[in-house]
Amino acid sequence: MIARYREFLPVTTATPIVSLGEGGTPLIFSPRLSKVVGRDCEVYLKYEGLNPTCSFKDRGMTVAVSKALERGAAALICASTGNTSASAAAYAARAGIRCVVVLPAGKIASGKLVQAFAYGAKVIAIDGNFDDALAIVRKLGERDNFAIVNSINPDRIAGQMSAAFEIVDDLGDAPAFHLLPLGNAGNLTAYWAGYREYQRVGRATTLPAMIGFQAAGAAPIFLGHAVENPETVASAIRIGNPASWKAAKQAVTDSKGAVDVVTDREILEAQRWLATHEGIFVEPASAAPIAGLMKCCDPARAPAYSFAQIPEGSRIVCTVTGHGLKDPEIIAPNAANLKTVAVNEEAVLRAIDF
Ligand code: F0G
Repeated sequence: MIARYREFLPVTTATPIVSLGEGGTPLIFSPRLSKVVGRDCEVYLKYEGLNPTCSFKDRGMTVAVSKALERGAAALICASTGNTSASAAAYAARAGIRCVVVLPAGKIASGKLVQAFAYGAKVIAIDGNFDDALAIVRKLGERDNFAIVNSINPDRIAGQMSAAFEIVDDLGDAPAFHLLPLGNAGNLTAYWAGYREYQRVGRATTLPAMIGFQAAGAAPIFLGHAVENPETVASAIRIGNPASWKAAKQAVTDSKGAVDVVTDREILEAQRWLATHEGIFVEPASAAPIAGLMKCCDPARAPAYSFAQIPEGSRIVCTVTGHGLKDPEIIAPNAANLKTVAVNEEAVLRAIDF
């Protein structure tokens, strides 16, 4: 990714590039979501689950780890709801440096935890939430020779701008609307910076309205105050006090966008809908903008941004941030009533009850 967008990134010839081939993810046209919106609008999904560690975090991590190596850091450290830790662990392994991940105990989806262990990170679970973990990491980053690779590190944001570049490169211009989940709020901030940068250099003529979605139980930006005990099935965005709150809020205001909430039920319904209608399986947090898109199309639900009157033929991009296999427990109940049948054609045919 760095090689493709080098001119826009804070790297020099002295930067040792640590890459796993991240970026270049497909922008997939969604005929059925386009139909939900109507008005000849086109909905596209930026499928970030196809990055090397199966989430968008790799785009920022390649830059953050390359820069950390350039500065001579001995180890990486991050707080995480899971995906940042998986990505940091992989890029640390690739760079040949150590990695410490500080996680809220019992709140990390199993696929992400497996990744952190597989890549050989030092995993520390705390009896607190993500916000507590990030507060500790900030302190350790000040004190020791650790490079913090959370999105408070500007190199992360710089790398994540590349997703906006790719979208404009694919569509020929910026979309009218960009929908994405909001957790620590770094990614929305990065996309907005990316779109603005591309407009500045003349590769895009317009800018999208940025629309961010939080889970109803973890919605500090929507509510306008920190949430002490955030709760949501979408564990990736279970955050009560986002680090990039101000920057994301500014991006939403400047882009004439909005911040809205979706319930856990809406998130899980959207996750299942996307998998069964478009063949794209994403983790719950990534289904938030899909649930959000459906809310935007339903005036009865009083969306923060209504799509009822948007211009005909508008192009809408939703970023689906992480792969569905990250969080297999969510789908496990579907397999619970799987019955074993006898080893013959008739029994199998009887069991097919379409
Ligand atoms: N989607 C997924 C799958 C995530 O893992 C995250 C954040 C977000 C959306 C929200 O992005 O924080 O930039 O607003 N995950 C972080 C982590 C917090 O630790 O993995 P954001």
